[in-house]
Amino acid sequence: MMKRIGILTSGGDAPGLNAVIRAAVKTAILEYGCEVFGIRDGYDGFLVEGGVFPLALKDVSGILSRGGTILGAANRGNPYARTVIRDGKEVTINVTDEILKGMQHLNMDALLVVGGDGTLRSAHEFYLKGVPVIGVPKTIDNDIDGTDVTFGFDTALNIATEALDRLHTTAEAHHRVMILELMGREAGFIALHAGVSGGADVILIPEIPFKFEAIIAKIRQRVESGSLFSILAISEGAKPMGGAQIFSRGGNEIYVPRLGGVGQMVGEYIEKQGFETRVTVLGHLQRGGTPTAFDRWLATRYGAAAVRLAARGGFDRMVALRAEQITDVGLEEALAVPRRVKPNEDGVITARGMGISFGDE
Ligand code: F6P
Repeated sequence: MMKRIGILTSGGDAPGLNAVIRAAVKTAILEYGCEVFGIRDGYDGFLVEGGVFPLALKDVSGILSRGGTILGAANRGNPYARTVIRDGKEVTINVTDEILKGMQHLNMDALLVVGGDGTLRSAHEFYLKGVPVIGVPKTIDNDIDGTDVTFGFDTALNIATEALDRLHTTAEAHHRVMILELMGREAGFIALHAGVSGGADVILIPEIPFKFEAIIAKIRQRVESGSLFSILAISEGAKPMGGAQIFSRGGNEIYVPRLGGVGQMVGEYIEKQGFETRVTVLGHLQRGGTPTAFDRWLATRYGAAAVRLAARGGFDRMVALRAEQITDVGLEEALAVPRRVKPNEDGVITARGMGISFGDE
């Protein structure tokens, strides 16, 4: 009999986190008569006074449409490298044992961990140390292979598509090249899907390195055929053939390096070739605000399925969507290879067939 479960959200936030929390709390209380505890700011909640608190039905009322997470999230959540002040000095320490103690002290029957690959990898490590974890895949990047789609992706994609629609009208009015730099880390799903949905002329993604000359050739071809403007959807991880990705900030033991700046670099090159260009970096607008209906639907199904999986004792597993059905997959298997755009997948072939350039030929 499952009596007490905990839930935490960690890594960068994604629209739909609150829908997962709401579904998990409601299912746990109404279907299983369980007590539910929220953990504040990812795994950090186990380290601080008041970081674990009871969640009642009233606490999840009215949160379905809210972005962010009522539990808070930590994007420097790597428990193996945490910066703390010791004797007045900043030091990096491994806090996994302290977190483990916190988890064991609560004597929970299951811990639902809602996060991206880093958070879920930590969850698997905690399982190996005896914590009954269940994973829920979250990320706007859609880069987790064990599921067809992560929640948060659809919302980001819709925001990016709307931004491309808006850039179209002003690009056309001024006969300009408009660049939209999009998130996604090493995966080009947001740029590919939004680029196709928003009618971009050039899509640059990390999985297909680009040549500057190919981009210029596409813009020139459009001008010669009477289309005096062009729209580029560029993934933050895109890189030139034989070149490197661009970072806006280097990494350290706590933070991973931040990608950013490729849009500006491509824009400067295009301007030098005589085409007036403007660059927009969509940034965290892709993560904020209300989730789409699809993300609420998926996140709700994930949250409820995670509780049911916990009740069946399916620990060290992650809920997943495959061929429209909710299922589950071992965490190790789900994370073994990261999900990436395949250069020969249907979306890329469709785009190419319609004259969209990936800057490679
Ligand atoms: O993984 C989600 C994501 O939004 C990436 O697309 C992006 O590179 C990164 O997180 C940004 O992280 P931060 O919120 O730390 O700036």
